[in-house]
Amino acid sequence: MSKTTDDLKAAFAGESQASRKYLYFAEKADQEGFKRVARLFRAAAEAETVHARNHLRVMQGIESTEKNLLTAIGGELHEFSEMYPEFIKDAQAENDKRAEDSFDKANKVEKIHHGLYADALAKLKSAGTAELKPFYVCTVCGYTVEGEAPDKCPVCNALKKLFKLVE
Ligand code: FE2
Ligand code: FE2
Ligand code: FE2
Repeated sequence: MSKTTDDLKAAFAGESQASRKYLYFAEKADQEGFKRVARLFRAAAEAETVHARNHLRVMQGIESTEKNLLTAIGGELHEFSEMYPEFIKDAQAENDKRAEDSFDKANKVEKIHHGLYADALAKLKSAGTAELKPFYVCTVCGYTVEGEAPDKCPVCNALKKLFKLVE
């Protein structure tokens, strides 16, 4: 792998993280009443996602939807079958309950994402004929469901009102 390919990967990871972090910083600034700083964080976050997208494009990381679904399925599979189980063990070994809980929530939801993506791939050819339903995401654990939010999140027990609609 060339040095530039490594650099593109590192730059994509860094820009992606910066954009997410700035959005959480913006939420915090809003809570603390710093409206202008919140806007600045959101504007910079937007710019970092432009940089991330540019880097990913150069790496040819955005392909056909069929290929992208395969990439997503592979990523989720890796997360719930290898990465998070290892991380959970590490957190248990170091008695870090908060990290264990955070990993455990993600682990459970990645498994669900894997299933949703696999299902979407299987139905890709008939996608145009299927009824279009919204998704709901639990804002506590990330549990993702198509159609309607449950009364209680099956992963973390959060109430229906804590689900976010995604159209
Ligand atoms: Fe940037
Ligand atoms: Fe996921
Ligand atoms: Fe949840």
